[in-house]
Amino acid sequence: MANNAFSSKVGLIMAAAGSAVGLGNIWKFPYVAGENGGGAFLLVYLACVVALGLPMVATEFLIGQRSRHSAFGAFRQLNGNNRWQWLSWMCLTTSVLIMGFYFVVTGWCFNYLAEAVVNTFHAMSTDQLTAHFNGFIHSDLRMMLFSLVPIVLTAAVLWFDVNKGIEQLSKILMPLLLVMMILMVIRVLMLDNSMQGLRFFFHPDFSKITPNVILEAMGQCFFSLSIGMGALITYGAYMPPKQRVVYTSVQVAVLDTLVAVLAGVIIFPAVFSFGFNPEEGPKLAFIVLPAILEQMSLPWFSSVLFFSLLCIAALTSTISLMEVSVAYMVEVSEHWAKKNPRIKPLNRHKSVLLVAVVTIAITSLCVLSMTDAREWLSFGGHNLFDLLDDITSCYLMPLGALGMSIFVAWKMPLEGENGLTQNAKGLHRWVCIIYQQMIRWIIPIVIVVIFLYGLDIL
Ligand code: PFF
Repeated sequence: MANNAFSSKVGLIMAAAGSAVGLGNIWKFPYVAGENGGGAFLLVYLACVVALGLPMVATEFLIGQRSRHSAFGAFRQLNGNNRWQWLSWMCLTTSVLIMGFYFVVTGWCFNYLAEAVVNTFHAMSTDQLTAHFNGFIHSDLRMMLFSLVPIVLTAAVLWFDVNKGIEQLSKILMPLLLVMMILMVIRVLMLDNSMQGLRFFFHPDFSKITPNVILEAMGQCFFSLSIGMGALITYGAYMPPKQRVVYTSVQVAVLDTLVAVLAGVIIFPAVFSFGFNPEEGPKLAFIVLPAILEQMSLPWFSSVLFFSLLCIAALTSTISLMEVSVAYMVEVSEHWAKKNPRIKPLNRHKSVLLVAVVTIAITSLCVLSMTDAREWLSFGGHNLFDLLDDITSCYLMPLGALGMSIFVAWKMPLEGENGLTQNAKGLHRWVCIIYQQMIRWIIPIVIVVIFLYGLDIL
């Protein structure tokens, strides 16, 4: 089990929220919403958070709280045999693949922070901002160097085991990020045509709800809440047995969704006001945000502050992502060493090094894949970066969530002694009963149906 402990209940909620709130909310949510019909996407997304995301956050916390292990040991501990170990391998694979593209985007944030410091975006037009971004993602060396910065920082945090310091830091910085975003909302709402953007984001055009939009919304919900790959199992492992899992999950999900919606309320009015295209794809936030920040009353200060906060929000997510693999490597090597005395278990430092090296390799391939000339790194018309983004969100995380929901519903004693409803009274008891039914029936069925629809099988 990983060896970072949380100082308080609030600390744990903040750390889990720190994992959830990140680039998924501010970079990915607006561009996926923009590509999938705006209001129509938001509606399906919110439905996915309530019906799938929220219960799945509770499910991962529950697996951690009951097993007191991270993803590797949890399933064996709870099931008493190796039959569900494939799920833990899937968690490891998903976390490594996500790191491959997530660090690239975190690198973009660090690059934009550096550029904000030297006032690069001052007086740039809409076209210049777009050209600037396109130029940047085609400069392999610069992208590679800037991706390396967050990888080294994340590895350093895990190496020196200062996660607790980060937890303290995020208690101050997360509210600051929220305040900054609210100030940006106020500014964009004063722009011309901002209402058109709000209409795009809040007014659902039902004809735009297609099976693919539903699949994308489900994937985005899992990605944003960090579920389906065991990250939250690690946090659950530190929850006191009496802590109410469902309520903690509601707090994390509400905070995460609030940040995503705020990001939409910032981006879309500005998209329509400045004449950007909402379907720009992954570059959307990086061309629109500098334009908004230039309109704030202290543009230099606002840009530097915003990109600093964005980098920190991204880092709290990369820390939890990398922790999954590091904790996994420590536990798996200890397990193998017990079976075969010739194998030496990896200590935490060696695991951090190993995971960092693998991450650098995959991240570098993703960076190289973004240059059009690299055909050997594109598959079926998609470059490796897009492919990893798509495969992990739309397929691996929902599949992981499906496996975990079946595991919890049918393999973990939720009833009887030590069951969820034991000692639960009043409203809490009802919430637990509803959760049990959802995890048993609704979640697996809904995930399977969305898959079959999204893949055009139904
Ligand atoms: N939820 C994070 C975000 O929205 O940026 C991404 C993420 C972090 C996914 C950690 C998975 C994870 F384990």
